[in-house]
Amino acid sequence: MTKVTTVSFRDRKARGEKISMLTAYDYPSACILDEAQVDAILVGDSVGMAVMGYDSTLPVTVDDILHHTRMVSRGAKRALIVADMPFLSYHVSPEESVRNAGRLIAEGGAHAVKVEGPVRRIGKALDAILAAGIPVMGHLGLTPQAVHQFGGFKVQGKGAEAQEQLLADARALEDAGCFGIVLECIPRSLASTVSESLTIPAIGIGAGAGCDGQVLVLHDILGWGKARFAHTFFDARAAIGQAASEFVSAVSTGVYPAEEHGYE
Ligand code: KIV
Repeated sequence: MTKVTTVSFRDRKARGEKISMLTAYDYPSACILDEAQVDAILVGDSVGMAVMGYDSTLPVTVDDILHHTRMVSRGAKRALIVADMPFLSYHVSPEESVRNAGRLIAEGGAHAVKVEGPVRRIGKALDAILAAGIPVMGHLGLTPQAVHQFGGFKVQGKGAEAQEQLLADARALEDAGCFGIVLECIPRSLASTVSESLTIPAIGIGAGAGCDGQVLVLHDILGWGKARFAHTFFDARAAIGQAASEFVSAVSTGVYPAEEHGYE
């Protein structure tokens, strides 16, 4: 088994091999994704919406991400584990940013962290985290932690000025030392241009096929996703619903438990 590292992640791009990344928030999901040879597992702050029932990622804390990263790192043996730095965990001071990122690595078992936003906004935190030897993945486009600045979950990078800015921001993240970036919900042509102009991999979500890889929220491929870019690869939501109603009916009719489910 060859482990995926931040270095091999970059080599994949150089060889023209597409990178696959999915979120996971718990041990069994991490085991399954790892066995399926997913290259990278993101312990995303999307856990807030996919699992915790919040309507944004903003209430997610470092302790929440740490809790889920620990579960994932016990399950994944091959995949690169990237832990999201939640809202306000890298905005207050460089010192606090390093401490928070360090916890996700040292206590959580992540191999890298992901931060949202351009260098012109988070540059000091980014430099401090990288200086501590922690690999960082950037995230541009629809960065959900800025949802209120965007006025909702809206496609970004529309119009010439916004496109030039996003391209410059992507280059700045590469120059700062990020090993990869996520491009979320931007026009396909812009995502292709950005991917082609970087030597680090650009991983798209709702950004078209021209990216160097794709990332999706696990729940979105299992039937929970409502986003336009989400594709249901297997309808686990329906399957779980069916299993639960069969259980209800088996219990109410006395079919379950049968003799073999009990003890003498
Ligand atoms: O939190 C998350 O899952 C993410 C992905 C949507 C890229 O940031």
